Amino acid sequence: MRTASRRFAIGCMSACALAALPFSSACGPRDRTDPGTAYFNDMAESEAYKYYSENPSFADGKTAQLPPPKSIPRGVRPYLYEKTIEDQQRAGLELTNPIPDTPEQLARAKALFRDYCVNCHGEGGKGDGPFVTSRKVRAKVTSLVDAYVQGKPDGEIFHVLTVGSVSGLMGAFSWQLKPDDRWRIVSYLKRELGRR
Ligand code: HEC
Repeated sequence: MRTASRRFAIGCMSACALAALPFSSACGPRDRTDPGTAYFNDMAESEAYKYYSENPSFADGKTAQLPPPKSIPRGVRPYLYEKTIEDQQRAGLELTNPIPDTPEQLARAKALFRDYCVNCHGEGGKGDGPFVTSRKVRAKVTSLVDAYVQGKPDGEIFHVLTVGSVSGLMGAFSWQLKPDDRWRIVSYLKRELGRR
């Protein structure tokens, strides 16, 4: 019974609403530029300070504040080593390669190496890629299979890929390659190329 009476009440209310519709102001002739009655005005007119407005809460009176010193943007992993030989060696001692040497990882690394390194360093890493043989790159491209690179700890090679070589002859790859992909390439370079 209670459900039936509720249904009746709802029915009555909708009938009344429908009957009232022709008389409501929304349907009458009106000025189209007039927004009409605004409910919940604070949603349209926010009470928050606007970006460039004055703000009494801060000493410099500005709403737009710089992030506090040393704050890190979301999603950014800070890299704490500079492009110096000392920091390159420190990175070699302090950083460890997080990528396991599984066949899947090395296969991915091989593809990355082919896309990003072979042009200069060559398929076998000897420093004889097509950019070198066609003399597009005239700098001496380091062999990746000689003891000089093979003897370096993973972190040091990762550092070179992250910030570039100290002399500046090879650029950084931090814009093109995510950290994990840089580590993968390091693994490939030492665990596969170096063993051939
Ligand atoms: C545009 C050409 C070019 C590309 C592409 C390139 N390199 Fe190099 N690379 C060089 C040159 C030139 C040097 C020598 C730099 C120097 O002497 O400072 C070098 C040096 C190096 C070194 C030795 C750094 C040291 O400590 O002396 C490593 C390791 C290396 N490259 C790895 C890579 C890897 C891995 C890739 C791919 C992600 C890559 N390079 C892509 C040109 C290139």
